[in-house]
Amino acid sequence: MGTLNGKTALITGGGSGIGEATAMLFAREGANVVISDMDKAGGERVLAALIKAGGKGIFVQSDVSKAADSERSVSEAVEAYGRLDIAVNNAGIGGPAELTGAYPLDGWRQVIDINLNGVFYGMRYQIPMMLRSGGGAIVNMASILGQVGFATASAYVAAKHAVVGLTQNAALEYGAQDIRVNSAGPGFIRTPLLTKHLTEEQLAGIAALHPMGRLGKPEEVAELVLWLALDRASFVTGAYYAVDGGYLTR
Ligand code: NAI
Repeated sequence: MGTLNGKTALITGGGSGIGEATAMLFAREGANVVISDMDKAGGERVLAALIKAGGKGIFVQSDVSKAADSERSVSEAVEAYGRLDIAVNNAGIGGPAELTGAYPLDGWRQVIDINLNGVFYGMRYQIPMMLRSGGGAIVNMASILGQVGFATASAYVAAKHAVVGLTQNAALEYGAQDIRVNSAGPGFIRTPLLTKHLTEEQLAGIAALHPMGRLGKPEEVAELVLWLALDRASFVTGAYYAVDGGYLTR
């Protein structure tokens, strides 16, 4: 039997990369997995793979930058499975690569809308549902760039730092009501977020920034997300956990 038997978990951005690996791992651990993503093809592909592997789940097409969509993801999860125990607010984009003094205004707004407002909208509707069932666990996907800067990524860095703070705030507000809220901070992970935009040569340069000398795998992030979501992590809240091959030690 799995460590998440009987739990219902909503994963935003579950149609690719880290969200996909998390959805597959949660399903293997017995959860009812609600994959939410704005990309219908990606979400349906992951759902089919999850079911083929013996898991249980549904797909909800949803744009995290729209509050109404975030509310609907939660209500569809509860309609399907009766409760919401775990939420992983993971959907995100990289955004334009440009120095702050030249950063495209529309790109700034888009990154903040998805990577920051999306996490707020998620929690805005997940928390009331968790309060109704007596508690829950939320994992927000931050980044190493929620702790340090990275030239040409000011919108992303600002949004991820804010996700770490927002996580702390929600944790202090709801700790006494058994809702744990933590953030995960991956180093650079080999997913389409990177591979769609960077050459193998550029990726090798980025890999070298990690003391372990390589990029991370989405499955390695999913393991941390799983642990943070488990009841076993019962005294862990408001924390930022790195999964970064040592990146932040430099
Ligand atoms: P990915 O591009 O493989 O997957 C992101 C998923 O989010 C996609 O399926 C995409 O359709 C979905 N998505 C994007 N915008 C959305 C929106 N507005 N509404 C709903 N879904 C949306 O990327 P990856 O790497 O798996 O990223 C997942 C999270 O991990 C992001 O928050 C990212 O910032 C974070 N992260 C990624 C790192 C990396 O190096 N790949 C490093 C640190 C953090």
